[in-house]
Amino acid sequence: MRIAPSLLSADFARLGAEVAAVIDAGADLIHFDVMDNHYVPNLTVGPLVCQAIKPWATVPIDVHLMVKPVDALIPMFAQAGAAIISFHPEASEHVDRTLQLIRSHGVKAGLVLNPATPLNVLDHVLDQLDLVLLMSVNPGFGGQRFIESALPKIEAVRRRIDACGRDIWLEVDGGVNADNVARVAGAGADTLVAGSAVFTGGRYADAIRTLRERAVAGRAPAPTSEATHA
Ligand code: DX5
Ligand code: ZN
Repeated sequence: MRIAPSLLSADFARLGAEVAAVIDAGADLIHFDVMDNHYVPNLTVGPLVCQAIKPWATVPIDVHLMVKPVDALIPMFAQAGAAIISFHPEASEHVDRTLQLIRSHGVKAGLVLNPATPLNVLDHVLDQLDLVLLMSVNPGFGGQRFIESALPKIEAVRRRIDACGRDIWLEVDGGVNADNVARVAGAGADTLVAGSAVFTGGRYADAIRTLRERAVAGRAPAPTSEATHA
């Protein structure tokens, strides 16, 4: 179970220190939200800021691109130290080409599905994915309410990933908090983005510990051999 604090809710005037603090508090990844005021109605940070936090980031930087078009930014984020780059299929003219581009830089590749994006966008690309990022809010802002229809969708993606047999992470992003994290993990997520749930209140270690404990408790038990043969 991986916890990925989203810097969107961090103090941008002290970003390096915030990165260090959440890693010290137990973060497994740093989730880096890139918004362009075009694909989404908000504007955040680019490769320069990714490069600036890189020395502080002793865990992988998980770049979530909410930009259109995406391709030109991929080499820049690879150079800036991204370990994972995810993008929305609606924001690329050629999804397969964009995936190849990410992987050609030695970076893990992820595809992001909005709440209303159907799962068939995964049909022909699962073999090129390291991560599926399921949005449980509409992208653009932190602090939104979790959309419940994400839960059966998480279950459906979990089944597809298990059936394909590759080690693809299933990350869920948006409105994840201490009250719903057990259900999110129980549905099959293994990587959890949390912005406001980590940064609001200032007690990062407590927040991350609670999320992790509840996620582990909520995780669906692996089938026993008896159940498998029943
Ligand atoms: C939304 C971003 C999310 C968001 C998470 O567009 O992709 O990463 O900031 O923040 P919370 O956890 O507050 O919903
Ligand atoms: Zn995100």
